[in-house]
Amino acid sequence: MVITMQNLISASILSADFGCLRDELSRCEVSGCDMIHFDVMDGHFVPNISYGVPVLKSIKKYSRLPMDVHLMISEPYKYLSAFADAGADIITFHAEALSDPGETIDRIHELGLKAGISVKPNTSVDWIYKYLNKLDMVLIMTVEPGFGGQSYMADMEEKIKSAASIADNEYKHLDIQVDGGISLKTVSHAASCGANIFVAGSAVFNASDTNAVVSELRHLASDAYTKR
Ligand code: DX5
Ligand code: ZN
Repeated sequence: MVITMQNLISASILSADFGCLRDELSRCEVSGCDMIHFDVMDGHFVPNISYGVPVLKSIKKYSRLPMDVHLMISEPYKYLSAFADAGADIITFHAEALSDPGETIDRIHELGLKAGISVKPNTSVDWIYKYLNKLDMVLIMTVEPGFGGQSYMADMEEKIKSAASIADNEYKHLDIQVDGGISLKTVSHAASCGANIFVAGSAVFNASDTNAVVSELRHLASDAYTKR
């Protein structure tokens, strides 16, 4: 899979109706989402439990979209090969979960996948700069991880700008993803700071006209990104 610096929409199925997940996946594809964002929560790293390897393995059969796996778990290294086997295309883990993420990034690459690191709102993004030469993506959380449907934290925008400016100047291949509270109201703010991949859960799945919302999200994002 090639990730370019296009503005991409990654649909977080945390907000999907799990009773008809196959239909929800096709809704993502039909509406033009670029990736499926798969939020894994262990009830330890974050105060919530979601889903894991068997669910990823099942949904992989029903979607052609790349699987963008966001591990909100305490020991990500232990589970990398299981998520790779189940169909992950990108694995992002949290900076706060490990004291030395270098080995984890290398292992994700050995498994043939793209690697990302995420930072929670209270974690400085500076901490991960020494790993940028190895990384494919930085994920700036714009909510406290753990739940969908929260409000976008505009005070994370300095972090987005900081990561995007390093990407622009030194690491042109690096994607800057934002996750949490992305909607028609907030997407252009994140894009104008330099984010280029937008995770959207409730904005996509609570929409009555998903096609219109996804195309508007992309339009607003591209417009703000190119004008910055
Ligand atoms: C939160 C998750 C998000 C969440 C986003 O911990 O990482 O991916 O599903 O949901 P919305 O878009 O509703 O904020
Ligand atoms: Zn997420």
